[in-house]
Amino acid sequence: MTTTLTQTLVEEKYRRYHQRINEALAGCFCSDNPATLYAPARYILAGKGKRIRPFLTLLAAESVSGSSEKAINAALAIEILHNFTLMHDDIMDQADLRHGRPAVHKQWNTNAAILSGDMMIAYAYELALQSKTERHRELIHILNHANITICEGQALDMELEEKKNATIEDYLDMIAKKTGRLISAALEAGGVAGNATEAQLRALVTFGEKIGRAFQIQDDFLDIMADEGKSGKIPGGDVINGKKTCLLLRSIELTTGSDKKLLQSVIDNNGISAERVAEVKAIYERCGVLDETRAMINRDTEDALAALESLPYAEGREYLKGFAGMLMKRDS
Ligand code: IPE
Ligand code: IPE
Ligand code: MG
Ligand code: MG
Ligand code: MG
Repeated sequence: MTTTLTQTLVEEKYRRYHQRINEALAGCFCSDNPATLYAPARYILAGKGKRIRPFLTLLAAESVSGSSEKAINAALAIEILHNFTLMHDDIMDQADLRHGRPAVHKQWNTNAAILSGDMMIAYAYELALQSKTERHRELIHILNHANITICEGQALDMELEEKKNATIEDYLDMIAKKTGRLISAALEAGGVAGNATEAQLRALVTFGEKIGRAFQIQDDFLDIMADEGKSGKIPGGDVINGKKTCLLLRSIELTTGSDKKLLQSVIDNNGISAERVAEVKAIYERCGVLDETRAMINRDTEDALAALESLPYAEGREYLKGFAGMLMKRDS
């Protein structure tokens, strides 16, 4: 199942909306006082975020109503919530680089990153309350549910680090919560802003869950496979930190002998030195895990596209499909 739109059309619209979203974000957090509270919020939002979630919010509204006019506040709220999660995630992951620049907790300090992130949550809710819809209650519920679910996902992510016999199922449950829910919430919020029916909201949420899963698997994949410098993060950061990603968990099942031993040591020692990332990458390359992962991403994307068929506005629907295809081919 593919879209009727060309990739160029989808890319053009993405570029246009990316700019529209960035212009609107530039009007947020304008206060200068206290600087250590507002400047980190402006800083992270000025980074090279892909704006995937707000773009999905706008397209979702278009797919159910033909217009995204009333969805802009919901889109901004989702993107601000996302950036708050990144700010706190980098503290938790001890990740010093975000969007190719020092993470907020490095540029300022951990306390500033905690506090600024907290403020961003409230700011996001305020934007949602001011959006041009009569369905504020639903909108706030979606944000709350997503927010709580992300916290569950992040807690599961930490628990997984301690767990000795973590399985792929544990991993899939964790990523559905830490990543999948905000992506499905982005679509659901756009649907509500576009006054969608229950059935239409369900279709958007299913689409979001599927592409969300594929997206996080891809994130794990790119963590080690992205071309040098492209991810804006430390290459192989997940391996260095001993993160139980899909690649690591599955490749332990696929290997034997010294390869398996090395991978197991990444888990047992809670990571490996940066100099040895290349050895792990070489094992991933020869054990077949990369092909399997690609196949998983493709399957999820196909399932996602199938969920959209019933949406009433063809143009928005086709852009959603086209964008899902584009996301899965991303290299950063
Ligand atoms: C990063 O999300 C966090 C994950 C859930 C994988 P994105 O890759 O969408 O982050 P930005 O906003 O483009 O930096
Ligand atoms: C991020 O997961 C999930 C959230 C921010 C909630 P990761 O820890 O894998 O994201 P990156 O790789 O740092 O962007
Ligand atoms: Mg992280
Ligand atoms: Mg993390
Ligand atoms: Mg990651």
